[in-house]
Amino acid sequence: MKDSTPPTGHWLDSRLPFLRPFCQHMARFPMPPVNLLWTIGACLMVAFGLMFVSGLFLSLHYQPDLSLAFDSVEAIERRVPSGWLIRSIHTGGVSLLFAALYIHVGRGLWYGSYKAPREIVWLSGLFLMLLFMTTAFAGYVLPWGQMSYWGATVITHAVEAIPGIGHGLLVYLLGEDTLGGVALHRFFILHFTLGFIIAAIVGLHILCLHGTGSSNPTLDSPHPDRTTRPFAPFYVTKDCLAVCVFLAIFTVLIFFLPGLLSKLDNIIPANPLKTPADITPEWYLAPWFAMLRAIPSRLGGLIAAASSLLVLFLLPWLDRSPRHNATYRPLVRLGMGFFFIAFITLILAGMHGATPLWVWLSRGAMLVWFLTFLVLLPLVAYRERQAAGNAPTQGETP
Ligand code: HEM
Repeated sequence: MKDSTPPTGHWLDSRLPFLRPFCQHMARFPMPPVNLLWTIGACLMVAFGLMFVSGLFLSLHYQPDLSLAFDSVEAIERRVPSGWLIRSIHTGGVSLLFAALYIHVGRGLWYGSYKAPREIVWLSGLFLMLLFMTTAFAGYVLPWGQMSYWGATVITHAVEAIPGIGHGLLVYLLGEDTLGGVALHRFFILHFTLGFIIAAIVGLHILCLHGTGSSNPTLDSPHPDRTTRPFAPFYVTKDCLAVCVFLAIFTVLIFFLPGLLSKLDNIIPANPLKTPADITPEWYLAPWFAMLRAIPSRLGGLIAAASSLLVLFLLPWLDRSPRHNATYRPLVRLGMGFFFIAFITLILAGMHGATPLWVWLSRGAMLVWFLTFLVLLPLVAYRERQAAGNAPTQGETP
């Protein structure tokens, strides 16, 4: 009698029928001719994977208790086998992840990746960025060093500036009116849980991208290239190469320069009675800290920092031009150039003390930020839409 059992290769097919179509879709996904900046997404996924796994191992030894937190981190560094390496991957990885994240967002801004039909890819990405910022902030509190304590105190107390409900909200969030054991425990749970939520939203981000397809840096050029190639093997190889370079930089950072990006103040246990000379956040949160400080009113600073993110969410509707690529939009190219300089200025300002020079530079940079997105882009888009009414556009058809 003929055996009706499928061959071993098809064993999974009959049990997980979606697996093969999924793999075929991933392999055949048509990719336009994109440049190296389109490999950063893959690097981000690898960086997030490393953070997630190293974080799980760290949580096996970390103690979210006021009297034990600092010592448990010390124990991870000194006594847990390879603990120093796992912690170095986790703390070094965060800087590299944010560097890649900001390049990824910068790529999107320059090439107009936020435009139709990729609005949801953009919005899910921004949501991911907010989650990463929150996760990094919560994670930084956990070692309970001086900078953990004082940084978190300054940022959480910014909530108090909200009229009427500020203080009540702070007490509700921290569980008491100063940063203490309850808050530390909450920060740990938040930090741990957000990792899983981020993983789910990364999935959604990629799913949305696969619905619309990747955009193309040659759009708007005099010779747009509309050829596509399958993701495997062409872009798999390209992404793998980029990931190898990314991991090489990562390795140099964690093995040879482990203290490069960490603050010495944070290897001193938290002391609520002794304020450090300068309370500054890690570089990746510095732009928003600089904004909080640049405005004399606490509420004003809070509104400015929140609005700077809000304008990014509104971008697909602020720039409704049929053109995408800043390379071919001279005024947008100039605006984006100034915006990138303003962003770096805010990073530097947030990492330095609040001297008049840095405060004024932050104000200038904020002005550039808001002018670029709220004035320049809508005006240029309006002009380009008018021009497109007369001439055929080379833009993408959604
Ligand atoms: C950990 C966080 C993130 C991961 C893992 C991730 C992953 C990816 C991957 C793998 C791609 C496809 C390859 C590429 O275009 O580079 C992609 C595309 C994209 N991402 Fe992200 N991303 C993240 C965060 C963000 C953020 C913060 C934004 C924007 C605010 C964003 C916006 C986009 C856009 C608009 C595209 C489509 C680009 C195009 O085709 O022009 N992503 N992302």
